[in-house]
Amino acid sequence: MSRIFSGVQPTGDLHLGNYLGALRNWVALQHDYECIYCIVDMHAITMWQEPESLVPSTREVTAGLIASGLDPKNNVIFNQSAVPAHAELAWIFNCVARLGWLNRMTQFKDKAGKNRENASVGLYAYPNLMAADILLYKATHVPVGEDQKQHLELCRDIAQKFNSDYGVELFPLTEPLIFGEATRVMSLRDGSKKMSKSDPSENSRINMTDGPDEIARKIKKAKSDPDLLPGEAKGLEGRPEAANLMGIYAALSDKTLGEVCSEFEGQQFSAFKDALTEVAVAVLGPIGDEMARLVADPGYLDGALKDGAERAKAIAEPILAEVYDTVGFLRP
Ligand code: TRP
Repeated sequence: MSRIFSGVQPTGDLHLGNYLGALRNWVALQHDYECIYCIVDMHAITMWQEPESLVPSTREVTAGLIASGLDPKNNVIFNQSAVPAHAELAWIFNCVARLGWLNRMTQFKDKAGKNRENASVGLYAYPNLMAADILLYKATHVPVGEDQKQHLELCRDIAQKFNSDYGVELFPLTEPLIFGEATRVMSLRDGSKKMSKSDPSENSRINMTDGPDEIARKIKKAKSDPDLLPGEAKGLEGRPEAANLMGIYAALSDKTLGEVCSEFEGQQFSAFKDALTEVAVAVLGPIGDEMARLVADPGYLDGALKDGAERAKAIAEPILAEVYDTVGFLRP
C-alpha cells in the first residue's frame, strides 16, 4: 500500500511558489493515496521564531492547505509538536545517522552560513527529525522539491542502516514523488533566485492571501527583459525572467510551456502580464478569500488539527512501539 507524507513549515506567509510547487500537487494526490500532511513547527524552531508568531502561522498554513482543496477529513493534517512520537523517533535516528552524513547536507551549510559554531544543534539534526517524520508512518512516497532531495536520500540511508543494524525489515525505502513539468517558481525580482518567504522584498513574491490589486501591482513590477516573447520554449534559454513568468502562466492555466509560447509569440511583456494577472487572480482569489474566512475561525482550525493529531497518533504509536522493541527498550 502507498502512503504519502509531506511537511511544510509554519514560518511566514504562504506564496505562489508553495502553491504551485507543493500544495496543488498535494491536492491532486488525495484521491489516490492515503495522505499525511504535517505542519512542522519543531523544524521551524531550528531557526529563531518569535513564540507569539507560531500559533497564528500554524493556523494560517492549515487554512492554506484546506483552502487549496485538501479535505481535513480525508487527509491527516496536524502540527508536528502535537504528536510526541516525532521527537521520540528522531532521538533514535540521532543514534543511527552518522556525523559524516550530516556534514554533507547542503541546506545546513546554507542556513548556518559563515558562523557555523553558532548554529543550533537542532538545525544540524534537522534531517534526522525529517526522517523521523516520514518513517514514523512508514510512508512510501514523499512529494518534495529539488531542495529537499538530499534530505530524502538521508532518510533512505537511515532506514537502511536501521534495518541492517537490527536485522529487521521495519522501515521502507521511501521514494520521492516528482511532479510533471517542474514548477520551480522563481522570484519576481530575480529569475535566478527561488521565490521565498525569506526574501526581504515583498515584491519578489505573490502571497496566497494577496488581493487582485496587489497581484496586479506585483506582476506589473516583475522584472522582465527588453525582447518580445518567443514562440517556442527553447527561445526562453538565457531569459530567466521570461521563463519564470511564462512558466507561472503555464502552471496556473494547466498548459505546457510550449503552448504558452505559441499563444504569446511575438507579443510584448505588457500584454502578457495582463493575461498573467487575470489567471493569477482567477486561481488565487478564491483560495485567498477562503483562507481569510478560515483564519477568522480559529476554533474550527484548531479542531481540525486536533482531530488530525489523534489520527496521526493512531498510526504512529504502534510503529514507535515496534521500534522500541527492536532497539531493546524495556516498555513497562
Ligand atoms: N524540510 C521540509 C521543507 O523545509 C519540510 C519537511 C519537514 C518535510 N519534514 C518533512 C517535507 C517530511 C517532506 C517530508 O520544505
